[in-house]
Order: sequence, then C-alpha cells, then structure tokens
Amino acid sequence: MAAPPNRRSAHGPYGMWSRSGRCDLHYTFYLHRYSRGNQPARGDPVFVDIDPGTFNIDPKKVEKAVRAVIADDSSIHSLPFVNSKLKTQNLKLTPKAVIPVDLFGLPADYDAINRIAKEHGLFVIEDAAQSFGAEYKGRKACSLTDIACTSFFPAKPLGCYGDGGMCFTDDDNLAEIMRSIRSHGQGNHKYENIRVGINGRLDTLQAAILLAKFEIFSEEIERRQKVATKYTELLTQNSKLKTQNIPAGYISAWAQYSILTEDEAKRDALMDNLKAAGIPTAIYYPKPLHLQGAFTVLGYRAGDFPVSEDCANRIFSLPCIPISLRKIRRELQEAYSALNSVLEPVTSLW
Ligand SMILES: Cc1ncc(COP(=O)(O)O)c(C=O)c1O
Repeated sequence: MAAPPNRRSAHGPYGMWSRSGRCDLHYTFYLHRYSRGNQPARGDPVFVDIDPGTFNIDPKKVEKAVRAVIADDSSIHSLPFVNSKLKTQNLKLTPKAVIPVDLFGLPADYDAINRIAKEHGLFVIEDAAQSFGAEYKGRKACSLTDIACTSFFPAKPLGCYGDGGMCFTDDDNLAEIMRSIRSHGQGNHKYENIRVGINGRLDTLQAAILLAKFEIFSEEIERRQKVATKYTELLTQNSKLKTQNIPAGYISAWAQYSILTEDEAKRDALMDNLKAAGIPTAIYYPKPLHLQGAFTVLGYRAGDFPVSEDCANRIFSLPCIPISLRKIRRELQEAYSALNSVLEPVTSLW
C-alpha cells in the first residue's frame, strides 16, 4: 500500500483526510478564525474576475479587489451589497483571505497571489479540488499556500467511489486545530470538546480505495498529459476554437479539457454534433458564481465580472481521462478522427 498522499510528497508535512472538498473549505474558514484566537464567523465573499486565457483568478484584479475593500470604494472593484448594509451599522468589510481555484486542474498564479496576500496580511487557501497532481513552477499543487484543500469526488483527478477530500498545511498549529475541527472540536481526550467542530472524517472504504489508486496516480497524470497534448495539437489547428492557456512552468492535472467557441450558438451546435458522433461534452460552468441564486443577497449584477460571464457563454469541456498507455494510440486516434470530422464541417461554416 502507498502512503497516504500527504503534503510531504508535495513538499510539506501535513495532509489530513476529510469527508469532501467542500467540507475542507468549510473547516479552513473555522480554522482561520480559531488560529487567531477568534470564534468562527461568517465571511462575505468578494468575487474577482478571471484571466481570459487561463480561466483562473486574475491577480491584478485581486489587488484591485483588496484595495476596493480597504477603501470601501466599489468604483475600484465591484463589491457585495453587504458592504452598504454594514455601513448603516458603522461597520465595513475587512479583507481576510484569498481563495483561488485551480480551474480544470491548472494552478492559479501563486507567486502573484501570495505576494499580494503578504503585502496585505491575508491568508491564502488554495482550492485545489481539481488540481491534485498538478505543478506550479516545480512545486506540487496543494503546497503553494497557507492551506490547500482538495476533493476526491469521482470526477476529480484522484477520485474515490463516493465523497472524500484532504487538507494540506505546513503549519504545526494549523494542523493541530484542523484535526480537532475535523473531529467535532476534539481536545486531548476523545470525549473532550474544546471548540465547535464538524464531522469531517473520511469513510474508511473511500480511504482504502484512494490508497490503492494513489499507487498509480502519477502514471495517470502522465496519461492525462498525453491526452491533453493530443487534443491541443488537433484543436489549435482550428483558429475558431480557443483552448486553455497553460503558462510555461505549469503542469495541469487536466480535470477537464476545456474549449472556448466564438459564441454561445456555435458552442451549442458543436456540442450537438459531438453528441451525435458519440463524444460526450459538458459545460463547466454555465453560470458564474456572482449570478447564482444562492448569492442574490450579495447584490451582484450581470456585467460585474465580464470575462467570467463571457466564458460561461462560450465554454465547454471534452472528456480527459487517463486511458491506458496500450489503448492510447488506437482509441485516441479514433476519438480524434471523430472529433475532427465534427469540427471541420461545423466550424468551416462559421
Ligand atoms: C473548484 C471546486 N471546489 C470545491 C469543490 C467541492 O468538492 P466536494 O464535491 O468534494 O465537496 C469542487 C467539487 O466539485 C470543485 O470543483
């Protein structure tokens, strides 16, 4: 059996299994407050637009968002409505943490993000739900910030057969609090509770599945790389399609292989044709976060984050699975010919 995928294998000491990626993110919020001696409190998200090439959070806009929050000035960056509500109580938002998502398996630009965070005393939580196995300038995803959270949901690069996740940190103090929060706020004794925690334990069966799959994980990442490289070779020949920009020094875990078409109608036509040719596709994600019903209370409007909105209308993903090396030549060749036979006639009409 392989050792659990802890942060030592990603250049750091602590990796803690948890129930899911979402659960990780929840308890890192608790953790951040506890580690500063405060009680957990709710945080109001200030959304930040993405870079149109990498589809990841744009560090220049993170900087503007932080300045806008500090100055309480939404002319610098769109701020949530809670800000004006707080004003009536003579309170204002205070920047605390940045949560970059490594979208589709590609790490965000952590040199830039960590620099901004350091300048303003912010905590950085890497949402590595999609990027376990990726690399950023020679360092593994999940080792790039104060804390990282990943997901082992079946659709993720390392998937179990149900729900699972893991948190990573180098910090002894954070690791100890994290363990406690995961287990109902446990203290030194099993039945001593020193804080409000959650049940974030990973199911034993899922852990056993993950340990076995972890043994072949690096090989699977290589296979995903081969599949993605082949897609890129084919798709970049077509000037009407745009693939995700992978900057030099980054290795994506390729949770998804995503493409931008010229507009929504062309995306839908292409997806219909791919479906007819037996090639499954999906849209990640049709609606950006700031326009989701769950966040209506924040008062964001269409137009606040134009790059995310534009990508949501034009993006779709192709399957990027680590098929066996033996099958790569034959099956991929067939898949690429099928893909090309759809791409050529559809896009030549645009
Ligand atoms: C970017 C991102 N963050 C968080 C999560 C949540 O992970 P989980 O489904 O394990 O709770 C997901 C999973 O869909 C995700 O893709």
